[in-house]
Amino acid sequence: MNRDRHEKRELDRRDFLKLGAAAGVGAALASTQAFAAGSHPKPLGGPAKEFVAPPIEKVRIGYVGVGGMGTAHVRNLVRIPGCEIRAVCDIVPERVERAQKIVMDAGFPKPEGYTRGPYDFRRLCEREDLDLVYTATPWEWHVPVCVAAMEAGKHAATEVPAAVTLDEAWQLVETSERTQRYCIMMENCTYDREEMMIFNMVRQGLLGEILHGAAGYLHDLRHVKFNFAARGEAIWRLAHSIRRNGNLYPTHGLGPIAQVMDINRGDQFDYLVSMSTKAMGLSLYAAEVFGPESKWANIKYALGDVNVTLIRTKKGRTITLYHDTNLPRPYSRIHLVQGTKGIARKWPDPRRTSGVMGFVYIEGRSPTHKWETLESYRAEYEHPLWKDLEEMSKGAGHGGMDYIEDYRLIKCLREGVPLDMDVYDAAAWSAISELTEISVANRSRPVDIPDFTRGAWKKRPPLGILRA
Ligand SMILES: NC(=O)c1ccc[n+]([C@@H]2O[C@H](COP(=O)([O-])OP(=O)(O)OC[C@H]3O[C@@H](n4cnc5c(N)ncnc54)[C@H](O)[C@@H]3O)[C@@H](O)[C@H]2O)c1
Repeated sequence: MNRDRHEKRELDRRDFLKLGAAAGVGAALASTQAFAAGSHPKPLGGPAKEFVAPPIEKVRIGYVGVGGMGTAHVRNLVRIPGCEIRAVCDIVPERVERAQKIVMDAGFPKPEGYTRGPYDFRRLCEREDLDLVYTATPWEWHVPVCVAAMEAGKHAATEVPAAVTLDEAWQLVETSERTQRYCIMMENCTYDREEMMIFNMVRQGLLGEILHGAAGYLHDLRHVKFNFAARGEAIWRLAHSIRRNGNLYPTHGLGPIAQVMDINRGDQFDYLVSMSTKAMGLSLYAAEVFGPESKWANIKYALGDVNVTLIRTKKGRTITLYHDTNLPRPYSRIHLVQGTKGIARKWPDPRRTSGVMGFVYIEGRSPTHKWETLESYRAEYEHPLWKDLEEMSKGAGHGGMDYIEDYRLIKCLREGVPLDMDVYDAAAWSAISELTEISVANRSRPVDIPDFTRGAWKKRPPLGILRA
């Protein structure tokens, strides 16, 4: 997509949000019906059949955006058999040089560098010798990079969230279907050890039929948002907190719950309601760090400190989803899964000293009304993929799950089997952001969640138990 189209899309989106807000006033007076959200022309039909790309013996990669997370992925990829990084792009030349050095130190030829500004990824995408373009740029660049990659015949992989807006989410689906290229959102939390173990418990029927999940991204990011010296996330993350109010980062919490509930593969998100508190945390923090008279203490931040969203699925399940990044608190994604036979959760577990984190209660097995540790179920329910890859993943980011996600991506591409997550997951999990913004802006009125599979969710096979 060229710069003009990118900018036009952004303007269209803002007009749509204004319209949504105006519609909300009328609708609040007239009706209790959910909003049908989204202005993008939806691709007709839906996926005719499951798309599977032919196997690729050696996966040749172009990497775009090698800041904190991109560099971590580069370090993983040079350790994974059957892939090679051929090109690296960033707007900061020193970061490209750092990534080139990592690749060369691992014994590969020097990848070509692309440092001619924010649209230089297009030149990288046009290279003949790439199979996959993988991006860890700031959020607003994910869709332009992925679309340029797919249009140039490459598969696309992106850091989270895949898309900021609904229109962008549809654009990914439409481009992937038309070009017959994968577009995967690399949601590392779906490979987390405890999340995978609970998924395995669910698949083995231990929790019965799943009815409810609770999840979120509860991470005190005040320091990150104002850490301008690091020249990293503060440059772009803070801007979203200034202008947007809703759940800005839904996929870490939602992804693993969506897999447990077979979203896009047997069940589907139906609608949501969302509510935010007022915003205090960032102003208070900035007053303390930069002084009460400082610019940062006196800006009006749109983002409510705690946003809570309630999602209902077509098959009658519910999910509570939190976004909480502006207040002092320990990290959590909650990750609670409740079914007809029991309940399991990962956070919080203040007593853990070793092993996996979390608690479980199974009727007829656990002492009545008492939680047992998840650790005591590990021998029986550890996910096989973790048994396979625990040793290899040691030392990689976020407890090893980042290595496992990169490993699985390369392995699936090489074997010519479907990826663990697909463009419908990327779209559905990311689209929650703008939908929550619409609900919050309209007194928490219900908003319909688009079905990016256009009905195919009823027939698509559920995700199985993955192996290395
Ligand atoms: N999965 C996770 O656990 C996790 C953790 C952290 C960040 N992330 C995600 O990773 C992405 C990057 O986050 P980060 O923390 O690495 O941020 P960062 O700011 O450290 O890195 C972003 C990089 O992209 C580069 N960049 C910006 N615009 C560009 C463009 N147009 N073309 C090429 N390069 C460009 C920047 O110079 C920078 O080096 C975000 O989407 C974030 O949400 C995911």
